[in-house]
Amino acid sequence: MFLDHFNVSPNLFNIFCGCLTVCLIKYLFNFINRFRKLPSGPWGLPILGYLPFIKKDAYIQMTELAKKYGPVFSFKCGQCDVVVINEVKAIEEALKNDHLLARPKTTFIPGRNPSLAEMSGETWKQQRRVALTILRNVGLGKSTLETKIKEEIGHFIDVLKSTHGKEVSFKELSGLSVANNISILMFGHRFEYDDPIGNEMRRNMQKVSDNIEYFTKFVFMPAIFFFVSLAAKFSPELRNANSSQKELEEKITEEVTKHREKKATHEIEDYIDGYLQEMDKLKDSNLSFDMNTLRRNTADFYAAGSDTTTNTLSFMMLYLITYPEYQQKIRDEIKETIGFERQPDYADRTSMPFTMAFIYESLRMSSLVPLNILRRASQDTKVMNHSIPKDTLVIFNFWAVHRDPNLWNDPHSFKPERFLSDDGTQVIKSPYLMPFSGGKRICPGATLALIELFLYLVSIVQNFIVSPPEGHKISDEINYIFIRMVKNPVKLTNFHTLKH
Ligand code: HEM
Repeated sequence: MFLDHFNVSPNLFNIFCGCLTVCLIKYLFNFINRFRKLPSGPWGLPILGYLPFIKKDAYIQMTELAKKYGPVFSFKCGQCDVVVINEVKAIEEALKNDHLLARPKTTFIPGRNPSLAEMSGETWKQQRRVALTILRNVGLGKSTLETKIKEEIGHFIDVLKSTHGKEVSFKELSGLSVANNISILMFGHRFEYDDPIGNEMRRNMQKVSDNIEYFTKFVFMPAIFFFVSLAAKFSPELRNANSSQKELEEKITEEVTKHREKKATHEIEDYIDGYLQEMDKLKDSNLSFDMNTLRRNTADFYAAGSDTTTNTLSFMMLYLITYPEYQQKIRDEIKETIGFERQPDYADRTSMPFTMAFIYESLRMSSLVPLNILRRASQDTKVMNHSIPKDTLVIFNFWAVHRDPNLWNDPHSFKPERFLSDDGTQVIKSPYLMPFSGGKRICPGATLALIELFLYLVSIVQNFIVSPPEGHKISDEINYIFIRMVKNPVKLTNFHTLKH
């Protein structure tokens, strides 16, 4: 009767029902099979899984769940199986595992081609290899880049001095300065701090990072968000992220056009130059070296290279004002080694153990990327004998390692001394400190970041006394979206020029 109503032949209906049953059985079989294989963990709701229960400070929640379910646990999150690795030995093993190098299949910003940081497999390997070769050739890890960073810091310190102790928005100004170091690598030049283009690029980058959450529905429920354009239209966060990313990439396109125009007579001076040359070399191959990927990769380096270092510097300012005794110790070390006239060199770090210990402790305590960037299992694999089926998303909980009481004495306290030898003359870098992740997908900017952190910190303490704005209580409130940020941007006053 029902079929008569819709005018469908019974045979067709039977075939349809048969197919549906086969699909359902296959789905159930896969579900049970994967469920049996995966490590145990918390239950969630049908379809949504554990996604609605994820809290704002997810890294703390994951660390708590590990206490209940063990160091390697799993849960269903939207459509995806997720495995969380929380313990140092398991993370060390996972970082060496070549089947855990991939990223989720969906990009973090909907509707855009994957960038180097979002790619998987051979395409990622090629893009990363070429990027690192170009960046090394144009100065990454060489003294030429250090000289340029020192010039940039010179401008930054001059601007801070010109405020004559008035309140300074440290994060904004340091953000522009740190972004310039990446601009030099990417575009071959810096921006003046009042340059409207430089400011707009930073603003757009900031808007993207403010709107992309770690546990974004777009990544964990790709089928529901399949109609990307619709998703972007209806979700204000995604719409903001998408339009800001577009504007950032437009500015990058303008830079690429300028580079194309000068290319004929020009040596390779920056990433865009190098990439354009690679594109020309590979134009007859089927490798994905194209304008779109160039734009996406440049935007990635720009964002990943400035937001992270700037926020770590903000954490350091917080620690300097919270622990003035440590600020004084760094200043004492400066007095004994560099003095107050000469700019610091990165080589000075070898005679400044306390300053380096302060940097390492800041990296541990800030744990800026507490849950790493999501990885995906490209094959069925195992970590510590726990099965991780193909396409499971994998989280490395670096926060749990950095706060593990079995690895660190009094892990919630800021104690640079933990990185010093007993007599205080040597800095000891712990293998348990992993702010830049590790293995083949380790942050490619780790060395640059360490150079920047050392040079900015020492230059600031060398020139100013850092203290909180008058009448302000020091706040260590954190905002976590994709990275941890000091919630109330640390505003600094009393940047008194020191009288030596
Ligand atoms: C304090 C500063 C920084 C921290 C804490 C940091 C941390 C990280 C972490 C944890 C990852 C994920 C690695 C993984 O998937 O295992 C990463 C990836 C990445 N970082 Fe950094 N980073 C910093 C600075 C930089 C700088 C200065 C650059 C620019 C040169 C940069 C560029 C990148 C890129 C492009 C990726 C993606 C790499 C890939 O997927 O192959 N980062 N970073």
